[in-house]
Amino acid sequence: MPAQAYSGRAMGLPPDTRVLPLNDEAIAEAARLILAGQPVAVPTETVYGLAADATNAEAVARIYAAKGRPGFNPLIVHVPDLAAAEEIGQFDEQARALAKTHWPGPLTLVVPLREGALIAGIVTAGLPTIALRVPAHPAMQALLKACGRPLAAPSANASGLISPTRASHVVASLGGRIPLIIDGGATERGIESTIVAATGGALRLLRRGPIDIDAPESSDSIEAPGQLASHYAPHKPLRLDATDAREDEYLIGFGQVRGDVTLSENGNPIEAAANLFDLLHQADAAPQPRIAIAPVPGGGIAAAIRDRLKRAAAPRAWKEGP
Ligand code: TXA
Ligand code: MG
Repeated sequence: MPAQAYSGRAMGLPPDTRVLPLNDEAIAEAARLILAGQPVAVPTETVYGLAADATNAEAVARIYAAKGRPGFNPLIVHVPDLAAAEEIGQFDEQARALAKTHWPGPLTLVVPLREGALIAGIVTAGLPTIALRVPAHPAMQALLKACGRPLAAPSANASGLISPTRASHVVASLGGRIPLIIDGGATERGIESTIVAATGGALRLLRRGPIDIDAPESSDSIEAPGQLASHYAPHKPLRLDATDAREDEYLIGFGQVRGDVTLSENGNPIEAAANLFDLLHQADAAPQPRIAIAPVPGGGIAAAIRDRLKRAAAPRAWKEGP
């Protein structure tokens, strides 16, 4: 049973994280916050997710800021039904058959991202594919309906901690860092969704989960979730910590360092994270054969940006894995 509403202050937390029991008002408040660009914790049938508007890059960057994640991973995007999923991703017959059998439910399908889909680049970490899921839980379904937007949602835990299956777990790990947690009681499944890739004509199992899928486990280790090569990398050499552009370089600026474009003119790391993948793509498409990027100092999400850039700047052979 959902707990009574209790304030962050009563829990000894900063007063800014509220916990509301699942009901219509809680969903309306969560939708208001999400449409204002905030992340909100909400139960799904697998684990609690930290949901943000997948069309709003800064909102998604706030997920990373709240989780304190040391790097960027492509995130799962939640939609209300298969029709909504097909507006964002391209489904072949196999993918559609799986979706029809298992949605709504704890299955995530990785499919090619549709051109022109309004998904922020930070959601897919710049990849041409997208992970989509139609959740069965009434809280997430109600929230999707109330927002009218696709919602990006990783598990609602601070980086390095296990996935939360109760609102109290979310309080313990993200209390004081997010404005609202919806308490829908313990989650039914308790483990994250099964992930299947349906790109290039063959199904591959990327993550085991509640649903057993008869597909070969990705034999290609570099395709598994979180692996290096599943991340977008620019095709051009990238020079880090640049304070000005050499003749053949396209410069991505930050703060004081003016560039051809800037991650954030006033040095805001959340804005920088939100712009990162789009600007790397832009730099890749520019006429200059090389990319340079300004230093992004600081901890937290700035460190996640530097981690991503370090990987992007590493030699190609390393990026593509074994
Ligand atoms: O049960 C779940 O799936 C939970 C609830 C909240 O829905 N969500 C969840 O999301 O586990 P997240 O973001 O923590 O897991 C995303 C996983 C990552 O391991 C990521 O690498 C993989 O999905 N992934 C996302 N997009 C991908 C893509 N385009 N290609 C390959 N893997 C992808
Ligand atoms: Mg997780």
